Amino acid sequence: MDKILVKGGHRLAGEVVVSGAKNAALPILASSLLVSGGRSRFSNVPRLRDISTICTLLSTMGAKVYAHEEVVEIDASGVSILEASYDLVKTMRASILVLGPLLARFGEASVSLPGGCAIGARPVNLHISGLEMMGAKIRVEHGYIHGQAQRLHGADITFDLPTVTGTENLMMAASLARGTTVLRNAAREPEVCDLAICLRQMGARIMGEGTATISIEGVDKLHPVEYEIMPDRIEAATLMVASGVTNGDFLIKNCPLDKMAAEVAKLQEAGLAISPVGKNGEPGHNGVDVRVVSQRPFTSVDVKTMPYPGFATDMQAQFMVLMCLARGTSVITETVFENRFMHVFELQRMGADIEVEGRSAITKGSGKLSGAPVMASDLRASASLVLAGLAAEGETIISRVYHLDRGYYQFEKKLQALGAHIRRETATA
Ligand code: UD1
Repeated sequence: MDKILVKGGHRLAGEVVVSGAKNAALPILASSLLVSGGRSRFSNVPRLRDISTICTLLSTMGAKVYAHEEVVEIDASGVSILEASYDLVKTMRASILVLGPLLARFGEASVSLPGGCAIGARPVNLHISGLEMMGAKIRVEHGYIHGQAQRLHGADITFDLPTVTGTENLMMAASLARGTTVLRNAAREPEVCDLAICLRQMGARIMGEGTATISIEGVDKLHPVEYEIMPDRIEAATLMVASGVTNGDFLIKNCPLDKMAAEVAKLQEAGLAISPVGKNGEPGHNGVDVRVVSQRPFTSVDVKTMPYPGFATDMQAQFMVLMCLARGTSVITETVFENRFMHVFELQRMGADIEVEGRSAITKGSGKLSGAPVMASDLRASASLVLAGLAAEGETIISRVYHLDRGYYQFEKKLQALGAHIRRETATA
C-alpha cells in the first residue's frame, strides 16, 4: 500500500488549480443511465478512484464509457444488466446512486446494500422509502435491495432529514416518473444543484434546487448532454487550511467561493485572509481565483457541522488541524455523522491535545504538532493527516492513503508544486 511522507515546516506559495467536484461528478455520471439514446459528454471530471469505480459500475451494466483526461463520455443505450454488485458497492457507497435511475428507466434494479463505514452507520432507508412512495416495490434480501416498478409515479415526499445522495437519487428517479414529485426537507448542497442543472439540460423539469423544496415534473425521455462539472468546494477549503497551517500565501484558481460561505467565515474568524482577486472576481460556474494569506497565531473558533449551507462535515477533520495550531480552546461538534472523529486519535499521536466528549471534540491549541507515523481511516481524515504533516516538526508518514486517492486528485503533487516537502512511496508488492 502507498504511503505519503511529509516533512513539515515549509511555507506554501504559488498557485494551485481546484479540480472538479467528486460529489457532483458521481451523481451526474449516474444520471447518464436515464438517457436511453446517444452519448453524453462530461468535462472537468476529477480522475479519482471513486470516479473509476462508478465508470466500472456503469460499464458492467452495459454502458459504453470512454474516459480520457478529465472528460468522460457515456452512452447508456445498451444497458441491460440492472445490478450493482457488492464488490463495487463495498468500495464506494455512492454506487447507491444508480438505484433511482435504473428503477425509473427500466422498472427494475438490484443494488447491494451499502454496509456501515468508518464514519457511521449511514443507512439508505430514506432512499428506499422515497422510491416506495413513488410506486416501487422494494425488498431487501441477501444483502441486496431489489426494486421493481411498472412506471414510477410522482409523490409528495418529506425527508426525515436532508440526505444528499437520497435527494439526488429521488430527483433522478422523479425526472422520468409519471406526474409531479415534490421533495421536502431536501438537501440544498451545491452538488445537488449541479445535478439539477445537468438534468435540466437533459430535458428534465426541475424547480427549486438549492432550497428545501424541489419539484420535479416527470418527462417521458431525456436526451444526451455536454456538461461541465462544478469545482470541488471541499478540495478548495482543504487547500485554504493548507495555507493556514503553513503560514502560506498562494492563489487558489477555480475556487467555488460563493458555495463556501460557512467554511470561509470560520477560516477568516481564525485569522486567514481570503479574498478573490483580479478581473475574475465574480463567482461563476468555474469559480474564481482566490488569494489566501495566513500568519500564525490563529484564533480558536468553535464549529458545528450542519447540512448545507452550514459548515460541511467533510471539512471538520481538516479544520481541527488548524485549531491544533491556534491559541486557546476550540469546540468542534459533529452533528451529521455519529462517528467522525477517527482522525483525533492519529492527531493525538502527533502531539495534539484533543478530547472527545460525545459528539464534540475539544481542542486545546498548543501551536505545534510533531511528525509521527499515522494511519488514515477515511477520506477526509487522510486529508487532515496530510495537513497536520505539513505543519509538524519532523517527518510524518501516512499509511492507507488509498482513502486520499478516493477524493483528492494528485493532492501531493499539487502541494509539491506549492513548495511542500511531500512525496509518495509506492508499494512494490
Ligand atoms: C454525502 C456526501 C458525503 C458527505 C455527506 C454529508 C456524496 C457522494 N457524499 O453523503 O461526502 O459527507 O453527504 O454532507 O455526495 N441518513 C439516514 N438515512 C438515509 C440517508 C441518510 O439516516 O437514507 C443520514 C446519514 O446517516 C447521515 C445524514 O443522514 O447521518 C446525512 O447523510 P447523507 O446526506 O445521506 O450523506 P451521503 O449522501 O451518504
